[in-house]
Amino acid sequence: MKITRRNALKSSALAATALALRGPRLFSQASTAADAHIDIVPGEPIGTISPEIYSHFIEHLGGVIYDGVWVGRDSKIPNTNGIRQAFIDAMKAVQAPVLRWPGGCFADSYDWRDGLGAAANRPARAGFWGQEDSNQYGLHEFMHTCKAIGCKPYLAANMRSLPARDFYQEIEYCNAPAGEVPTNSHSKPVVNSLAAQRAANGDPEPFNVDLWGVGNESWGCGGNLVAEEYAAMFRRFTAWTPGFSPVPLRFVAVGPNGDDVDWTRRLFKSLYSNSERRHLFGLSVHYYTSGSPTAFAEGDALKFGPDEFYDLLTRGSIMERVVTDHWAAIGNTQEPGQPKVKLVVDEWGAWYSKSTQIAPEYNLSQQSTMRDALLTGITLDIFQRHADKVAVANVAQSINCIHSLMWASEDKFMVTPTFHVFQMYLPHRGAQAVRAEFSAPGIRNPLANAPIPVGGNSYTGSLEAVKLLAGLSGSASISPTNAKLMTLTVVNPHIDRPVTAEIAVAGTGIASYTGTVLAEDDVHAHNDFEHPNAVKPRSAATAAVAGGRVAHTFPAASVTTLQITLA
Ligand code: AHR
Repeated sequence: MKITRRNALKSSALAATALALRGPRLFSQASTAADAHIDIVPGEPIGTISPEIYSHFIEHLGGVIYDGVWVGRDSKIPNTNGIRQAFIDAMKAVQAPVLRWPGGCFADSYDWRDGLGAAANRPARAGFWGQEDSNQYGLHEFMHTCKAIGCKPYLAANMRSLPARDFYQEIEYCNAPAGEVPTNSHSKPVVNSLAAQRAANGDPEPFNVDLWGVGNESWGCGGNLVAEEYAAMFRRFTAWTPGFSPVPLRFVAVGPNGDDVDWTRRLFKSLYSNSERRHLFGLSVHYYTSGSPTAFAEGDALKFGPDEFYDLLTRGSIMERVVTDHWAAIGNTQEPGQPKVKLVVDEWGAWYSKSTQIAPEYNLSQQSTMRDALLTGITLDIFQRHADKVAVANVAQSINCIHSLMWASEDKFMVTPTFHVFQMYLPHRGAQAVRAEFSAPGIRNPLANAPIPVGGNSYTGSLEAVKLLAGLSGSASISPTNAKLMTLTVVNPHIDRPVTAEIAVAGTGIASYTGTVLAEDDVHAHNDFEHPNAVKPRSAATAAVAGGRVAHTFPAASVTTLQITLA
């Protein structure tokens, strides 16, 4: 079924809209023709938006690494040292700050030593996802990928099937300086044999990896542990780890399955029972959005109706609850004087349970449409609104997988609508997030009462929370270099209805603004290899500024970035 704006009007979802989602307006204004309001308060800063919330993730899964990222040095496909050039260029275009590797669940079966040395001598292994891994893409190739992109590496360490010693040695291999290194005044300089091995493998300069995931989903594929068991493992793996990097190590502890706050409370209770928690930087949070499986669509990437459209976006909005609940669960047991443990949402995105695959031979190769672009905007806005809590976030996964920014197959390459949203949100990087209140009639989720399949990383809590989707949502920030430049990003989730919102800025006014918008007539719109530019952003039609305010119209099913110059 093609959902056009006209036929969507008849859908049950739209018949059930118009619920007030938010409380009273922040400041009173003359009433206008607007059907929504956005009140921005620059005087109420939330925090600096970490550039690392726009980060990425690649795993040895389906066509992500082989075909997606790695084409091989002898390939006719344009590449840099075997890494697909188009992948590098697209990651540069979104200024990717951090890239996570090698998993995911794959990480806890992976031996980092398998991917070292002469390519011909590397062992092929049966990987976690039931596909052979040739190990042609290993640690050095990953580091070269990061270098080519200009991003930081984030390594997920194997905690389930390798001992702590291997973790220490992986850190040493990555970060120890090569050659003779002075130790202390009483002993002679030493040569670190792991650094020497790295140099012999082609990289004398240390990789200086500071961000380390200590295991992955240890409540599931990472070991089926309970929180207290994981806490003990975490302490053992991270106590007295060698520190070589010029920047302090940042360890990320495994967080809950979706919204399981009990895991987080128990984990931190246990971790805080010991005062030594060296380098504990963050709590990993994984939250995937799966819509309700209905007779109509069974959670498909392409075949969905208005009900599934609204359901997915409503369940995606639960990310806000996931962030605030886990933040509270950490903070509840936090001791004064200790650095705040931040949230590292290192896997997020839409994951359709039974999906139209782009490449059926590749596991989890789902297509990405305008619906996924809206989910991307909603999610990034949540991270920006919680800039004080979320330090890092990695979309899962960058290429040829769930919620991807890019698709590649042999010499074909394209970007998805999600890629465009990442680009449109770039002005928020490193900016000061400020309070922005959205008042708009909400949309009742027509599938609120339908249970979702029991699976990993999804929302299993109160159905109350998935009843209502915000009729307009977004976030605002002030440029770090120009106090008069504000960025406002907004998602209008109505399939059929533009929303006009009066935008006001407390304490000052709007002098002028420009905009970029991503919107298509059909929410199923997507790019494919034959039509790589079917979906792309365009300039937004702007309205006249009057009295320091503007009534801007956000098209139906759109993501918009406004660059506002303050008076
Ligand atoms: O991203 C796919 C998988 O989802 C990851 O390997 C795992 O960590 C999560 O369950």
